Amino acid sequence: MAMPVYVFDAYGTLFDVHAAVAQHADEIGPQSARLSELWRTKQLEYTWVRSLAGAPYVDFRELTAQALDTAAASSTGPLAPALRANLLGAYDRLDAYPDARPALEALKARGAKLAILSNGSPDMLASAIGAAGFEGLFDAVLSVDARKIFKTARSVYTLATDRFAVAPASISFQSSNRWDVAAASLAGFRAVWINRGALPDEYPDMAPAVILRGLDELPRLPD
Ligand code: LAC
Repeated sequence: MAMPVYVFDAYGTLFDVHAAVAQHADEIGPQSARLSELWRTKQLEYTWVRSLAGAPYVDFRELTAQALDTAAASSTGPLAPALRANLLGAYDRLDAYPDARPALEALKARGAKLAILSNGSPDMLASAIGAAGFEGLFDAVLSVDARKIFKTARSVYTLATDRFAVAPASISFQSSNRWDVAAASLAGFRAVWINRGALPDEYPDMAPAVILRGLDELPRLPD
């Protein structure tokens, strides 16, 4: 097979979604880990519920803010305005996982085309890519914003096949989010689950093609 197009999920795969709360953990106090988990859980829940219900599209930046407020109400209590602003600002500058850059650079050096396919709104993705110094690595940054619906809607995944004018089997899709891998598998991509946390497998009928423990293992996969 020709070299696949390598398409990456952003949040949780390239960028550490828990880095925002971690930067302010001392100020938040003992509930910080719970706040961060709830923030992510609610953020995703809002994308799924809106997409399933056919609700009017509200972008990921707004849903991320709504999710933070709910998460705080259920853990720390309402956040002071400055802390709330700092957490949302930190979400625009999340740390990249240390294995991301070497993997992207190794694939790029081999001549692979690289892309992001994310729920993130275009401005959020541009900020995160800039903060990580990843400009120039990607041939395309694809946001669900173009389809006005979130993962796991099938139409989102066709953004990648449409952009590169390739068959689904020519896309190698990497995500740490097992539910995202499930949808990518159903879409016909080579679905690569980056299972850094050694989580138990799920979605048995929507299996990954490959399971890796980190992005560092990706350049060693055969095309
Ligand atoms: C994204 C979500 C899954 O980046 O985190 O699309």
